[in-house]
Amino acid sequence: AITQKVDLLLNRMTLEEKIGQLNQYSGKALTGPATAKSNDLQTEIRNGWVGSVLNVKGTKNTREVQSIAMQSRLKIPLLFSLDVIHGYYTTFPIPLAEAASWDMEAIKLSAHLAAREAAASGIHWTFAPMVDIARDPRWGRIMEGAGEDPYLGSCIAEARVRGFQGKVLGDTDAVMATAKHFAAYGAATAGRDYSGVEMSDHELWQTYLPPFRAAAKAGAATFMNSFNTLNGIPATGNSYLLRNILKGKWHYTGFVVSDWNSIGEMVTWGYANDVKDAALKAITAGCDIDMEGGAYRKNLISLVKEGKVPVALINEAVKRILYQKYQLGLFDDPYKFCDEKRESLVLNDKKSRLAARSVAEKSIVLLKNDGAILPLNTNLKTIAVIGPLAKAKRDMAAAWNVNQDTTAVVSLYDGISLAIRGRQTVLYAKGGSVMHSSQQDIAEAVSIASQADIVVMALGESFDMSGESKSRADIALPGNQEDLFEAVAATGKPVIVTIMGGRPLIFNRIANKAQSILYTWWLGSEAGNAIADVIFGKYNPSGKLPVSFPRSMGQIPIFYSQTNTGRPYNNEPEKLYLSSYIDEQNSPRYAFGYGLSYTTFGYSELKLDKNIIFANDSVTISFSLTNTGRYAGEEVAQLYLRDEVASVVRPLKELKKFIKVQLQPGESRIVHFVLGNDDLSFYDAKLNWIVEPGVFRIMIGSASDDIRASTAFTLKK
Ligand code: IFM
Repeated sequence: AITQKVDLLLNRMTLEEKIGQLNQYSGKALTGPATAKSNDLQTEIRNGWVGSVLNVKGTKNTREVQSIAMQSRLKIPLLFSLDVIHGYYTTFPIPLAEAASWDMEAIKLSAHLAAREAAASGIHWTFAPMVDIARDPRWGRIMEGAGEDPYLGSCIAEARVRGFQGKVLGDTDAVMATAKHFAAYGAATAGRDYSGVEMSDHELWQTYLPPFRAAAKAGAATFMNSFNTLNGIPATGNSYLLRNILKGKWHYTGFVVSDWNSIGEMVTWGYANDVKDAALKAITAGCDIDMEGGAYRKNLISLVKEGKVPVALINEAVKRILYQKYQLGLFDDPYKFCDEKRESLVLNDKKSRLAARSVAEKSIVLLKNDGAILPLNTNLKTIAVIGPLAKAKRDMAAAWNVNQDTTAVVSLYDGISLAIRGRQTVLYAKGGSVMHSSQQDIAEAVSIASQADIVVMALGESFDMSGESKSRADIALPGNQEDLFEAVAATGKPVIVTIMGGRPLIFNRIANKAQSILYTWWLGSEAGNAIADVIFGKYNPSGKLPVSFPRSMGQIPIFYSQTNTGRPYNNEPEKLYLSSYIDEQNSPRYAFGYGLSYTTFGYSELKLDKNIIFANDSVTISFSLTNTGRYAGEEVAQLYLRDEVASVVRPLKELKKFIKVQLQPGESRIVHFVLGNDDLSFYDAKLNWIVEPGVFRIMIGSASDDIRASTAFTLKK
């Protein structure tokens, strides 16, 4: 029925009105460089020249702007879009942090609650999730994704899309999702934002496309182009990506939006003569909406009149957009998402804060806990909270802070003070800024530490150090924070280090000397409460790294799913003529999948239901997981696979399954994983998705570098 309505409306539309649907402008806020609009925004909307708007939010504002669209000839409602990346009013942990939870229900709930708040505030469409695989922590946007692994990334892409979009699009607690940035943006050369990407098709298909495929399968209503070139062709004008893969092979029926002026940027790349040429290339390639660039607005009419762009191409794009507007119910009620009462109720509902605290707890990764110094004993008299981020609020809200009340963020200092409720004394020293601690700052911190029983340090990056256009050539913990740590540690007081930031950082001195390290990322509104919950043992940490942490910059790109070499180095005393560094180890500082708990887990009784299978059979793997420690806790049990010999060399290990299990002390659970044809398949040299006979090794464990048991089966022809 919707398609009929779309066709009827399309028949009534002039060419100008059709092109208007393909034109998106930003309201006042800028999330890209300022661009000159052809006309005043209101006049453009009234004349039917705008189909969607970004960066206008709140029921009052969206109602006002929508009412202008209702004055246009056909009264086609506008779509209101926004970067709701990790919460709207309540700030959730950054996506990379949430990925560390490996908890799909929690991630889905976080996206759902962000959608609920945004939708109550007039928003129809979020530019999330970012599903770009990222293996280069220099790239600032690594914080917006799910890390390095295509399988984990695909599970998270699906969870986020389902969370944002809810049961049915059109429900007033759901928004349209955007799978971005299509494609391979995470592989930006040298980790520098917006740079080009040269990559084999094989690598594109096996590593970078799977999360997009998962998002499309989960029903993501829209896709966004990436800024990069892919093998010389800008993604926005890349018909291989858009026409062949997305709209062709994958039969994708949603629509594609450019990134901010990424059509116009094809001129700067040297791929188009001028903006008109860029508009021609983009619409031909399959980019449906032009975000903020005005390239379609200014050039599509003449391109159609000159016969260079068939009207059928415009119609195709318009139909995709109108379809979603009908699906959202905007033709029945263009103000459906502009209910002020609902807005005030939803934004003040405590539900989101509770969920934000819970997912923040789950996102924390315990990297080290020598001598089981954590959880902290509540009998301590005096705690010193020291570090440039100890009282930070804005930093916890991170990049993509679109509407959040940053004064309502709980800092670490506040979280600790609230947790102990006056039973102990909390001392504080800032110890300088993230970029510099003076001798005086350090001396003051040392003096405060000396007066305490225990020290909790808050170190890391400020909010403007990771995110879009925040690539770093050096990902060391900034400034001289490690000097500050060493001076404080030299007091002999036990020191717990919390590290906050948007990416894997390098902090070797702390890694070697601190007794306890919690990687807490940027956790959002409830940061301080969540960290305090972990420090005092109210929550037993269960996070696992979704991305490898290098020891040194020269190891980048570093990721666990590497292939073997002809000359592997396996820690022999002599490295000569083996694949290694003369000045560094091969292994990361902290591996993918790594994260400790206050308890310990044992893996035993690994079994297969058969040792020989045939194509299209499945194999069931079972093992017993036991909580062997003293605390109740959750373990993320991971299954890795190696296809031992294949027509294309396969990685030494690939994550194929995982499960997060809660166990009481002494409790055991039998875990079952089923591997089917798809799990055993790979792209061959001609990009066919195939399974080949041979031996498959199964490894189960607690991290990619902590395999506890292994076995193998054979697939026969
Ligand atoms: O959604 C973003 C995108 O990720 C980067 N450029 C700007 C867009 C809109 O704000």
